[in-house]
Amino acid sequence: MAVALLVAAGSGERLGASRPKAFVVLAGRPMLEWSLAAMNDAGIEQVVVALPEGEAAPEGCAGVRGGATRSASVRSALDAAPDAEQVIVHDAARPLVTPEHFTATLAGLAEADCAIAAAPVTDTVKDAGPDRWVTATLDRSRLWAVQTPQAFRRAALEDALDQPPEVLAAATDDAGLVEARGGVVRVVESSARNLKVTTPTDLKLAELLLADRLPPPSAPRRAF
Ligand code: CTP
Ligand code: MG
Repeated sequence: MAVALLVAAGSGERLGASRPKAFVVLAGRPMLEWSLAAMNDAGIEQVVVALPEGEAAPEGCAGVRGGATRSASVRSALDAAPDAEQVIVHDAARPLVTPEHFTATLAGLAEADCAIAAAPVTDTVKDAGPDRWVTATLDRSRLWAVQTPQAFRRAALEDALDQPPEVLAAATDDAGLVEARGGVVRVVESSARNLKVTTPTDLKLAELLLADRLPPPSAPRRAF
């Protein structure tokens, strides 16, 4: 059985909106509802949402209070789904996720402890120290820009999160914690379209891309 953990407890400091980022209205619905609609269309039945203070869980989901860091929010949500053997972690800040992202990352668990959506890097990436002298140009064909969803065998995620708070706080993704514990992580190809809304420019771009999808997939349709 699979559970999806939707982490939505961040404040959205860099977006600078008047409410937490996941609850900002985007193309006609609160941002997190775009992800919930894709989860629903992927046939995921159990969803736990990590929430910021003052926000209620959307209908059909369990809600937990998020933590001070992203990893702490994942931890709280995982604890609320003790029976699930497969766990998909997704950022509410990626509203352009599709049902296929969820089904493909889950399928990836057949041969890995963790399977992550990621897009091939299109920029040339250079390595430079704090002094800005370039020391290397990386082989772009091997580089992937990591996204969510990230699917985990439960034991691997439990083990990854069972580390000191400072280690968890420094992690920008949970798959990195699995790697550090010797787990097998596999990339599932995604595209740059599954962008993360961080700044007002990202929000504008997401709005434009989601306009193609209106009316929202699981919004009630009016009968005219
Ligand atoms: N998140 C969370 N709990 C936290 C921090 C982040 O659940 N304590 C979630 C966010 O809600 C978001 C995802 O993790 O869906 C990715 O984090 P990010 O894009 O950094 O969102 P925020 O932390 O809200 O934004 P900012 O860093 O600009 O404040
Ligand atoms: Mg953040």
